[in-house]
Amino acid sequence: MRLWMGRAAVLALGAALPLVSAAQTQSVAALPDMTLATPHRFERVAYDLRVPWELAFLPDGTLIFTERDGHVRLLGPGHDATPALRTAVALGNKMGMLGLALDPDFASNHYVYVAYDHVAGDNPSNEGERRFQLRVARYTLEGNQLVQPKTLIDGIPAATNHTGCRLVFGPDGKLYITTGDADEPPKSQQLDQLNGKILRLERDGSIPADNPFVHTPGARGEIWSYGHRNPQGLAFDARTGTLFESEHGPNGGDEINIVERGANYGWPVIDHAAAHDGMRSPLLEFSPSIAPGKAILYDGKAFPELRGKVIVALLRGEGLLVLDRDGNRLSHPRRLFFQGFGRIRAVTQSPEGYLYFSTSQYDPAEGQPRQDDDLIVRVVPSAAPTVYPGITPRSPTAKAAPLSPTQHAIATHCAACHGPDLRGGSAPDLVTRHFQFVTDPESLKALMVHGLPDRGMPPNPAITADEQALIAVYLAGVRAQH
Ligand code: HEC
Repeated sequence: MRLWMGRAAVLALGAALPLVSAAQTQSVAALPDMTLATPHRFERVAYDLRVPWELAFLPDGTLIFTERDGHVRLLGPGHDATPALRTAVALGNKMGMLGLALDPDFASNHYVYVAYDHVAGDNPSNEGERRFQLRVARYTLEGNQLVQPKTLIDGIPAATNHTGCRLVFGPDGKLYITTGDADEPPKSQQLDQLNGKILRLERDGSIPADNPFVHTPGARGEIWSYGHRNPQGLAFDARTGTLFESEHGPNGGDEINIVERGANYGWPVIDHAAAHDGMRSPLLEFSPSIAPGKAILYDGKAFPELRGKVIVALLRGEGLLVLDRDGNRLSHPRRLFFQGFGRIRAVTQSPEGYLYFSTSQYDPAEGQPRQDDDLIVRVVPSAAPTVYPGITPRSPTAKAAPLSPTQHAIATHCAACHGPDLRGGSAPDLVTRHFQFVTDPESLKALMVHGLPDRGMPPNPAITADEQALIAVYLAGVRAQH
């Protein structure tokens, strides 16, 4: 830690050395599959979840995880996943309860940091005010409950897309936060805006004196690096302080970067492998898109073949990306567990070195929720390759029972909030609800497009007229029977 602080101080005096140059960007078009040499089996840890976004372990081995629809849950001896926190969040494509990190001194102070989106302001009809914002708050774990919230930072622009958000403590004891461009790409380049940045805060939310832009007039002192599009993975090498980052690109161009103090990662001026003076091109660039989520550096004992590797959860890639690492060089990208788990959002290692990962099928538009989704799965060394009870990993090509067009429309556009049959999830049961804003089929269809943004239902310009009609007919039918 001291060593790393020393290096940061040196960099603060001069311009950061460009460790990564455009010429070194490696473009990756196809991922070969890999298998683990260690015999292993999959075990289902939890199921019927709604996008478990972050997974972590308390010192006693209890699993703590966020669920995008507004929960933090504990699972382990004495904890049965009853919510430790249930918070009203603004839910959207990529919005809700997102990042989570434990305080480096969690064992003594029991602090847990979470990031979630909310509807901004008391007066949401004020057009000048941003509707959705990301807030990072510190809670204290008391028994089974997260209590005493203290907001560390708020007002980070959020949107149904591109909202980050990963929280990670560095070996320097500071909290690092990824933010998306919130669908306003130019702001990623603006130092007076918090969109499209990696932020660095003290544990109490104050701004560290050695942040790069604290003395730049007009700049937000929280900023550590900028020019990001939608970074969702952040992993430190605690020994060297090297910070690896994964980021979603536009139409492919997904990135793996090493993040350095004050550096500009180019979005939206450059993307893919493009180069520009004063901007960093990625270390690795993936086209077509693999959609990288959380990243870790594996150093567990359970799977020696993964030691020292960078591992990244893949949403579109439906597996785990494994990269060899030699200092600041990453090579030999390949894919693990591409065997029907579907979209994978987060990966972590348990105290025993087992791999835990979570699926992300309840992502409107891209996801295809199946029975029992979403899952948390762990991978355990075992000579008996038993498949965990209840679930057989499905062949990536053979889809489960096909959905009817109506079910498909609901799964794509509504299920993440209202449940697969619209009988309620994090948003109301639409079968028994007495509608407040809907008067006839036409106003119902209009509501599907325009949403109720002030009340947590985002607009959905992607829904087709056919889909609106199918859902309206379905709702009329089930509501009449009720
Ligand atoms: C991102 C979450 C989300 C998605 C996706 C979503 N909704 Fe909603 N919806 C909500 C929330 C939250 C409310 C409750 C607003 C309130 O009353 O406070 C709501 C309310 C409604 C209402 C009640 C309106 C009334 O008059 O009371 C209807 C009808 C509805 N949604 C239909 C749909 C349909 C159909 C879809 C899919 C095409 C959909 N919603 C997708 C979150 C969502």
